[in-house]
Amino acid sequence: MPSAFTVSQLSPEIRDRMSLEQRLALLFNFYREAEMHGARLLLNLHRHITDGDSQIKLTRHLSDECRHAWLWTQRIDELGAAPIQVGDGYQSRLGRKVGLPRHAIDLLALTLIAESRAIERYQLHAKQPGVDARTLEVLKAVSADEPWHLSWVGEKMKELAPQYGGQAAVDRTIEKYRAIEREVYQSFLADETFLMGK
Ligand SMILES: [Fe+2]
Ligand SMILES: [Fe+2]
Repeated sequence: MPSAFTVSQLSPEIRDRMSLEQRLALLFNFYREAEMHGARLLLNLHRHITDGDSQIKLTRHLSDECRHAWLWTQRIDELGAAPIQVGDGYQSRLGRKVGLPRHAIDLLALTLIAESRAIERYQLHAKQPGVDARTLEVLKAVSADEPWHLSWVGEKMKELAPQYGGQAAVDRTIEKYRAIEREVYQSFLADETFLMGK
């Protein structure tokens, strides 16, 4: 397998021969990659919002995302596969479209929309028929932390808004990113559906 994997590299013949376990291991690699990208955004934020309250929340959040990446890594290993470098995952597609975040509000807005999508993806996956018990266990564990992630990030953006042109400007940033994210997620759906075994 090449060092940076993309689903488009799989020929129709290979796709037909892939077992459900092989597809799931790839899907979990995308989940793992998204968790790690989320952790990278938070590490970046650690340098931008340096007050004590933000640092405590950021560190707790970072520790959650690293644990999520580890849970997916364990699940990949249990399926007899190895973690791979994902070349065209959700977050890298998003990063390419959004460009370089300029300041704390950009990073928080990106975190907010990626977190909303993560909850949606995990809940949708958990509702699929025939999901095995171990995968369900991991999906539940990673989903359980997300509401707190969304709530503290949202609160922090409100708190910081006056320094960044007011709440309306912050809302515009969120909406701009949300529109880009919707497009990116659409481009990812076909790959994800295939990897879920449908
Ligand atoms: Fe997560
Ligand atoms: Fe999260």
